[in-house]
Amino acid sequence: MSFVYKADPARGLIWQRAFAERRPDLPFHLWPETGDPAKVRFLCAWMPPEDIPGTFPNLEILFSVGAGVDQLPLDSLPPGLPVVRMIEDGLTQGMVEYCLAAVLALHRDLPLYRQRQAAGLWQPEPVRLARGRSVGVMGLGVLGQAVLAALRPLGFRLHGWNRSPRAIEGVTVHRRLDDMLPEVEILVCLLPLTEATRGILDARLLARLPPGACLVNTGRGGHLVEADLLAALDSGHLAAAVLDVAEPEPLPPGHPFWTHPRIWLTPHIASMTQPETAVEAVLANLERHARGEALLGLVERGRGY
Ligand code: GLV
Repeated sequence: MSFVYKADPARGLIWQRAFAERRPDLPFHLWPETGDPAKVRFLCAWMPPEDIPGTFPNLEILFSVGAGVDQLPLDSLPPGLPVVRMIEDGLTQGMVEYCLAAVLALHRDLPLYRQRQAAGLWQPEPVRLARGRSVGVMGLGVLGQAVLAALRPLGFRLHGWNRSPRAIEGVTVHRRLDDMLPEVEILVCLLPLTEATRGILDARLLARLPPGACLVNTGRGGHLVEADLLAALDSGHLAAAVLDVAEPEPLPPGHPFWTHPRIWLTPHIASMTQPETAVEAVLANLERHARGEALLGLVERGRGY
């Protein structure tokens, strides 16, 4: 029985060391090295090999090395193969830090003051405090809930929207997205990318936000209709956007997002799987598997996450 890691090789070395220490009984291979392919039971990958049954005939679990599984060809993977998305504390903490930074920057008008600085303008606006500002999160999974929990002590009025209902203390959870949007001045998209959510950040959605609202997208570039965001910013309806994701990545040279004065763009760094904590999460799931218990983060293929 063995484990193969097929993703960033530099981080793979940390996985290898952690496995050697924590599970010396479970041989660990760094792709393209696999040992005897028939012995490979567990694969952790960003992108698995194309022919999984032909490559690893006895594979029992496919772990995504990232939180998202939209990069995986879910429809063409062997039907009975469990697919698990990454849920681990380091990845969650990274997302919390980035979303706090983005929400606070937008809340305190930093894109506006950056523009005024560039224009040599010393021009203050009244200060509004967090308790007078509303933030809404789309997607109330592990990441969305952690972001809301971190925003709460600052006093923001919090809203959330999720496909399946959830109760979260201190958060007004909406069943219908359309009900939440008019309430929200800073909208954070933390949704998984699926057929149902592709293009969800479009003109119709942006128009329902109150004038002067801001957008943070840390989901996937595919959630956003780029032309609709540009139109909403240029009409003045939206004040600013912080985008960590794009489609394609990287954006091509000359793309308007690079230089738009009210778009802050980062290169998909909001959060990254942290090898040390990710290994703990995967090992805990392997133990669950050995005991015949349900895996944490098991993907429902039909819904796409
Ligand atoms: C990053 O985007 C991830 O899916 O972990």
